[in-house]
Amino acid sequence: MEKAQVELKLVSHNDDIFAGRHYPKPFAFNHEVAEVFDDMVQRSIPLYRDVTRFTADWVLHFYQVGTAVIDIGCSTGTTTHHIAHRLEQSAHFLAIDSSQAMIDRAHDKLSDLPARHSLNLLCSDVMAVALPKSSAVVINYTLQFLPVSQRKLLLQRIWESLVPGGILMISEKVRLNSPSFQELGTRLYEQFKEKQGYSRTEIEKKKEALENVLIPFTEDEHRHLLKESGFMNVESLMKWNNFTTLVAMKGY
Ligand SMILES: C[S@@+](CC[C@H](N)C(=O)[O-])C[C@H]1O[C@@H](n2cnc3c(N)ncnc32)[C@H](O)[C@@H]1O
Repeated sequence: MEKAQVELKLVSHNDDIFAGRHYPKPFAFNHEVAEVFDDMVQRSIPLYRDVTRFTADWVLHFYQVGTAVIDIGCSTGTTTHHIAHRLEQSAHFLAIDSSQAMIDRAHDKLSDLPARHSLNLLCSDVMAVALPKSSAVVINYTLQFLPVSQRKLLLQRIWESLVPGGILMISEKVRLNSPSFQELGTRLYEQFKEKQGYSRTEIEKKKEALENVLIPFTEDEHRHLLKESGFMNVESLMKWNNFTTLVAMKGY
């Protein structure tokens, strides 16, 4: 069951961080970034609004009463907010982010959470959090920031937290397998950012700052890790050049 016409709650200052002389290098989800994050994320991630909406569509379908909905790397809380406002059954939400600045913004955004739900908004490295029994876990554009050595362990822990029939929704920036495809994918992505109003200098500076901070896997690597972590029915739901959204289920 769901309410119709729930809009995404995206509120922030305009992102001009990389236009100035002082910017986070290496890139960090600090106070400065949190202040402009909702604008940054819409202008830097192709189809961000659509992905957030259909992430909610899938979570609503697979949610099982009495279990939690977990949002890992919740940033300013947009996804949790959107799911919570559309989910008519009561649920417990656990939203986790390692940046206090992001959690502060999420706290404001989620202040209008419908009373039927409960919320635990946690500032912590996800690796240090005990994940409760859940039927839907969302990890959108976050696994790519975890040390490569921790990724499989996190996916295994998510699988363990899910009840049978529960799902993981995962969105990531990915590397394309062939070098020439990867090169074109990068060029098209940079054109996308230019169309969003970022200058060449801003694009280059952010790219440099993200080096060795955002480490993308290929989609094949994600599928392999998901299967190795116990997931079945791994499906690609969205693909935009070098961005992808996958759904994976814990079998019965
Ligand atoms: C690109 S943002 C995620 C965007 C968000 N999921 C959305 O769809 O709006 C990545 C987030 O992951 C958080 N993060 C990175 N590493 C983390 C970790 N080890 N544990 C928890 N959060 C982490 C960052 O602080 C940042 O807010």
